[in-house]
Amino acid sequence: MIAIACDHAALDMKREIKALLDEMGETYHDFGTYTADSCDYPVFAARAAKAVASGECEKGIVICGTGIGVSIAANKVKGVRCALCSEPYSAQLTRQHNNANVLAIGARVIGPELAKMIVKTFLTTEFEGGRHQRRIDLLTALEEGKDIEA
Ligand code: RB5
Repeated sequence: MIAIACDHAALDMKREIKALLDEMGETYHDFGTYTADSCDYPVFAARAAKAVASGECEKGIVICGTGIGVSIAANKVKGVRCALCSEPYSAQLTRQHNNANVLAIGARVIGPELAKMIVKTFLTTEFEGGRHQRRIDLLTALEEGKDIEA
């Protein structure tokens, strides 16, 4: 199950991505927003991010105009590693190295076809583990307020 959410700036992009998820046979929970009325992106990004952090959803996709606001919001939820990607290379590497569990996209930055390539890459690339797990553990420790100085 994929958590997906957007603000008013990204409704069309969310529709395109949901169509791709349907094509890919992925189930999703759409956490809003559902209308073109102006709204506050942290509310919707937090809903999707919390669903990922709780385990209700395996991964998340959050979309706003730049992708920046939703990525900041999602990264404030404990357990979330959200990556803002504008090309597939970053989407691949953030799965392989950062084990990112939420993808952020800027609907006013990239077009729908590129966004779909990024989503496909993000959802089909596995975490490599190994030395990267140690760094993820440091991110978790940092999130818990621990001292991570070497
Ligand atoms: C909304 O106008 C815009 O600020 C929002 O979509 C996003 O780009 C914020 O980071």
